[in-house]
Amino acid sequence: MSSKQELIDRLNDALAWELAGIIQYMQAAVMATGEGREIYYDFFHESSEEAHEHAELVGDKIAALGGVPTVEPATIRQAADVEGMLENALLLERDALEAWEAAHAVADAANPGTVFWIEEHIAEEQEHVDHLEKVTGKINFSSSDIDQASDQSG
Ligand SMILES: [Fe+2]
Ligand SMILES: [Fe+2]
Repeated sequence: MSSKQELIDRLNDALAWELAGIIQYMQAAVMATGEGREIYYDFFHESSEEAHEHAELVGDKIAALGGVPTVEPATIRQAADVEGMLENALLLERDALEAWEAAHAVADAANPGTVFWIEEHIAEEQEHVDHLEKVTGKINFSSSDIDQASDQSG
């Protein structure tokens, strides 16, 4: 059985990444220039708002467990161009996902509802990582797989 304090500490790590997200995405939104601004302004703006929502939700949970929610953001990564901002977004989402997974590992200190709530959040952060891995070209398909598929249909 994990301790409640351990869970509070790990949820505070997750909160620190959400706080970093609010600021990092907001700076990216206002600093995005060039053609990339047309495509990514909304993404950065909405990601900042979503991080704000998540920060409030996890802060609420920490307080419900009797802990004090942190006001210190984790590492905020800055970039001068949209490409760098997207790479930094992926690093942020990976760090946030890791923090949520670490909280899940000690979630048995709370109740089943809290475990399920953390799992839902992990699924959401994993979606963010998956999306940004596609955006930044981290996922590469093998052309032989595509050839094979067309062979079968023809
Ligand atoms: Fe989040
Ligand atoms: Fe996220």
